[in-house]
Amino acid sequence: MEKTFAIIKPDAVKAKNAGKIINRIEKEGFEILGMKKIHLSKDQAEQFYAVHKERPFYGELVEFMTSGPVVVMTLQKENAIKAWRDLMGATDPAEAGENTLRKLYGSNKGENATHGSDAPETAAEEIKFFFPELAN
Ligand code: RTP
Ligand code: MG
Repeated sequence: MEKTFAIIKPDAVKAKNAGKIINRIEKEGFEILGMKKIHLSKDQAEQFYAVHKERPFYGELVEFMTSGPVVVMTLQKENAIKAWRDLMGATDPAEAGENTLRKLYGSNKGENATHGSDAPETAAEEIKFFFPELAN
């Protein structure tokens, strides 16, 4: 069993799509090991997205991620990292497959409803950042 880290981003929480997303997570067979609704501080968002520091969208991304509450989760499933990224769909909702979360609930490449870890190392780091009690 693998763990991954997921966020329901401020756009989806604000639009009251969090419940639908959580429902889908359960339907798709993920176990929710940890879940909390929090409002990220600027410091937390900057640290969390530090890998994107040099990218042109970094400032906008930090502003967006701190614009309202988010739901952070640790999910478990077989091949959870890939399974969650498949369920989310492409970064740009316009390019995301039918019935993916970003297709259903995302607005644009920045405001795209959900986040998911992209590799075992980042999953471990991100879980530790928000759920130290669930870190291996
Ligand atoms: P995430 O990390 O949130 O799961 O998304 P991802 O792997 O699919 O995409 P990534 O390249 O890691 O980008 C992180 C987040 O930055 C925002 N973004 N905006 N305006 C843009 O061109 C742009 N590109 C990326 C998105 O919110 C993206 O999810
Ligand atoms: Mg990413």
